Amino acid sequence: MNISIIGSGYVGLVTGACFAELGNKVICVDNDNKKIEDLKKGIIPIYEPGLKELVANNTKKKRLIFTSSIKDAVKESEVIFIAVGTPTLNNGEADLTGIENVARNIAINMTGYRLIVEKSTVPVETGEWVKHTILNYIKHKIKFDVASNPEFLREGSAINDFMHPDRIVIGVESKKARDKLVNLYKPLNASLVITNIKSAELIKHASNAYLATKISFINAISKICDKVDADVLEVAQGMGLDQRIGLSFLNAGAGYGGSCFPKDLDAFITISEKLGYNFELLKAVKNINEEQKNYVLKKIKDNLWILKDKTIGVLGLSFKPNTDDIRNASSLNIIKALGLEGARIRVYDPQAIQKAKEALQKDKPVVAGVKFCKDSYEVCRGSDCLLIATEWNEFKELDFVKVKKLLKRPLIIDGRNIYDPKMLKKLGFTYIGVGRGNG
Ligand code: UGA
Repeated sequence: MNISIIGSGYVGLVTGACFAELGNKVICVDNDNKKIEDLKKGIIPIYEPGLKELVANNTKKKRLIFTSSIKDAVKESEVIFIAVGTPTLNNGEADLTGIENVARNIAINMTGYRLIVEKSTVPVETGEWVKHTILNYIKHKIKFDVASNPEFLREGSAINDFMHPDRIVIGVESKKARDKLVNLYKPLNASLVITNIKSAELIKHASNAYLATKISFINAISKICDKVDADVLEVAQGMGLDQRIGLSFLNAGAGYGGSCFPKDLDAFITISEKLGYNFELLKAVKNINEEQKNYVLKKIKDNLWILKDKTIGVLGLSFKPNTDDIRNASSLNIIKALGLEGARIRVYDPQAIQKAKEALQKDKPVVAGVKFCKDSYEVCRGSDCLLIATEWNEFKELDFVKVKKLLKRPLIIDGRNIYDPKMLKKLGFTYIGVGRGNG
């Protein structure tokens, strides 16, 4: 099939490369000329395992091409995915100007039937607006369909998630649209959930909101665990083995971050309010998440008291492992708070240092006290405590005898619960996890 993906960010690029890998001819579009020129040369703007190779392979086979011309893409493709960003406005609403703009451009450039598919995460009823916009700007009497096909890709494992999905959600209003999308996904042999457009839009917001709720729930439980000397890992295991609950997304820690959960929760709370429902549950989920970052900070202060002129070693900057994405990363919130208290910070991340440097640059008083290190051991040298902010695998395999020698004080604040407290205590460390019974 000839398809276009408008928007070559995380979602658009992964989706485009994967559709090409399945044998389709894919045009990826972006209005950022520099990004398109880079992509043509094989330079990928993000770190996502396997993506560089996938893009290179499919570009070589001429199944994947890049352009900044929506016009050309719309002309060539029968199915057009919209994968542009929907950032948060100051009032929490999703900013849909990118979606509106693309819908208008598709309408102006359509030369025959087109299936326009929402891939970006959007509030319920956006499909109605996309339809309305296309009808308003279309030049001739051309037939078209709108569909919703939300993505469930996790950064760090996005290609695997695309190729082996738990389910594929297809929201459609015509048999033609349904047949086209079913055909496109046929090679994946996955379970299909076929709904109307509004249900599909809601499935996406509801799924992310539910996953965030699970995380905030276990984070709330972690606080009770600390108060009574219980272990949240044991509680999560005991709960999660109940198949109705499930083990995933029950890791307590420094809170969720990233470009999806915080943004989608805000948008879902706002659209619910607009529709006349006060989604108090999600407001609580959001508050618990904010508190959790302060909770980890408090654990450092409870142990070191005054932070001025103390050195805090921080392992991990990205919002989760296997990505260089630092958007809404808990680590950055904590680093900023430490910096404002006058602490010196030594930090290392396997992928995200460059992006963190750029982000912290805006915070002059903080960045002055931050030293970016070449590895975990350099972070430990002379630090009064070591904080784990992201659970990269390489942090799980440190040489703790060496770590202990390098630290000024053998204190580990494990913001992601990756270590065995007994093992570290045996080696002479003071170990503080999140909900491990020693808060
Ligand atoms: C999330 C969803 O998992 C995807 O299904 C969805 O497609 C995507 O958002 C999106 O809407 O585009 P992502 O943000 O890449 O994916 O990352 P997750 O693996 O979901 O993690 C989100 C945050 O939750 C991370 O900061 C992670 O550290 C935190 N988390 C996750 C926890 O604190 N505890 C857990 O048990 C799980």
